Amino acid sequence: MAVLPSEPGPIGIFDSGYGGLTILHGIRQLLPQYDYLYLGDNARAPYGTRSFDVVYEFTRQAVTRLFEMGCHLVILGCNTASAKALRTIQENDLPNLDPNRRVLGIIRPTAEVIGQLTHSRHVGIFATEGTIKSESYNLEIHKLFPDIQVSGVACPFWVPLVEYNEADSPGADYFVKKRIDQLMRLDPDIDTIILGCTHYPLLLPKIHKYTPRGIRIVSQGEYVAGALQRYFVHHPAIEERCTKGGHVHYLTTENPEKFKESAQIFLHEPVEVDNITLA
Ligand code: DGL
Repeated sequence: MAVLPSEPGPIGIFDSGYGGLTILHGIRQLLPQYDYLYLGDNARAPYGTRSFDVVYEFTRQAVTRLFEMGCHLVILGCNTASAKALRTIQENDLPNLDPNRRVLGIIRPTAEVIGQLTHSRHVGIFATEGTIKSESYNLEIHKLFPDIQVSGVACPFWVPLVEYNEADSPGADYFVKKRIDQLMRLDPDIDTIILGCTHYPLLLPKIHKYTPRGIRIVSQGEYVAGALQRYFVHHPAIEERCTKGGHVHYLTTENPEKFKESAQIFLHEPVEVDNITLA
């Protein structure tokens, strides 16, 4: 078993790149008192088209590193990692790494709120190819709300649009409209659409522009934050091991200067970033 720091530490938030910043933002709105350590594997993003084995291996490396850096709780702020790696890490890796630490995903908290949000009981999902193919959203929603019809569309170009800072460019309109039209053709009764990829809230202005009026667009940040707050109430031993200084530190596997520049788009504040290598 690895020797990990035992003293309390920050909450780890992991994503393939910048997308998890939308989750971090939502969590900090509700829980600003905690310390956070954000890790973006920008050098190896996107994850959305990668195989199960590769996403699992990259995510396992990231979680292990965040544990080594003092986190007792790591949130996979990435739907692709939550869909493809979470369960294996919880079941196979945690018992060896440290059975007292926790790794949580973001699909379940999103599925939990959907029942209250849809009236037509027809829900759409936009996500990466990996998340759509895993059927994780369908499975989680159906466990809780068997009556809801779920239709999903993969949006392979949306993550690069965000990662390359093109979310507001005129070129993005074509790719956004194309997928919205595809989803609405699949099921015209949809009244609620989940942005099942943490990068997609950055495309919200364009998504609103092309989505038929009256359809609710659900971004995950606030719901993940609410779920975490409830989790802490039920798991005080984990909560006690999360430090409270209101500080955030960022790590990237890419160039820190590049990360700093792009992170501003998400966070609108200066950030401290270090480079790390995952292996
Ligand atoms: N932001 C990640 C998600 O929520 C995936 C982006 C990627 O393809 O790396 O699925």
